[in-house]
Amino acid sequence: MARNKIALIGAGMIGGTLAHLAAAKEMGDVVLFDIAEGMPSGKALDLAQAAPVEGFDAKLKGTKDYADIAGADVVIVTAGVPRKPGMSRDDLLGINLKVMKAVGEGIKAHAPNAFVICITNPLDAMVWALREFSGLSHNMVVGMAGVLDSARFRHFLAEEFDVSVKDVTAFVLGGHGDTMVPVLEYSTVAGIPVPDLIKMGWSTQEKMDAIVARTRSGGGEIVQLLGNGSAYYAPATSAIAMAESYLKDQKRLFPCAAHLTGQYGVDDLYVGVPIVIGAKGVDRIVEIELNEAAKAGFQISVDAVKELLVACKALDESLA
Ligand code: APR
Repeated sequence: MARNKIALIGAGMIGGTLAHLAAAKEMGDVVLFDIAEGMPSGKALDLAQAAPVEGFDAKLKGTKDYADIAGADVVIVTAGVPRKPGMSRDDLLGINLKVMKAVGEGIKAHAPNAFVICITNPLDAMVWALREFSGLSHNMVVGMAGVLDSARFRHFLAEEFDVSVKDVTAFVLGGHGDTMVPVLEYSTVAGIPVPDLIKMGWSTQEKMDAIVARTRSGGGEIVQLLGNGSAYYAPATSAIAMAESYLKDQKRLFPCAAHLTGQYGVDDLYVGVPIVIGAKGVDRIVEIELNEAAKAGFQISVDAVKELLVACKALDESLA
């Protein structure tokens, strides 16, 4: 049986990390596509030379030609520009929308049967636009944000509770921005909900509020510290988990930006909700009961995403 093929559109910081992870896990052969001259081929060659030491079998190729992504099973999109200190994700809209158009058309022409994971920011608007430009079915195009935001939340909770990150589950819903909604009621340590842990004296509501605030600005904190560019290890590893769930039909339940058609009272919008990813792409959208505060937070997030779509439509008439 032929190996799976994973095409990475954008071979920058996240793209390079994705390539390393995909190859090291032997998920398939990897194509790194970028508009930059030489760089994707350089990264592909460097990674191929890591293979004998690490002991993985995967072919890696760098390219500037969309024809090379033909037959890809999974396409992960990071093409575009990342944030600089002081910028919000929304500041990237104008530049990255044009990039999504080129990428969407490339996918449509060369890899129309792929499962597509978008990472480019501002995420919820870019995944919507990428789907429009590519014309793929909605269940085959998702955005990576919730897995990353939840991972950030899990890391902070594990530190606070002094337990293994492996035992902490957490849920972050809504858009990938300052309006994201970390939901404490559905966040647990080995099944014990966070509100119960507060009652048990493991922490306080004030500390939880501070962790929620830090999770919301988790990406910005890293942008500030790096000084140049944005996070790449955790974003890459989050997208790889989604790709694996598709390729291996694992049916894992992840919070992802998915296309809603009435669920959560939202129509024709990509926003972060729990979904099951399997061989069909989005196998199911999971509607969980939200308390009033989470509902209100989710609505604010939805409204923020809607505003970005209005801006996208104003910038590109073909989206209107
Ligand atoms: N087609 C293909 N690649 C492109 C295009 C395009 N039209 N435009 C830009 N690129 C490439 C750049 O050449 C660069 O190599 O996208 C790559 C982006 O890499 P980085 O600048 O290193 O950014 P990265 O940290 O990987 O983040 C990428 O993900 O998290 C988001 O906000 C982040 O939108 C940003 C994206």
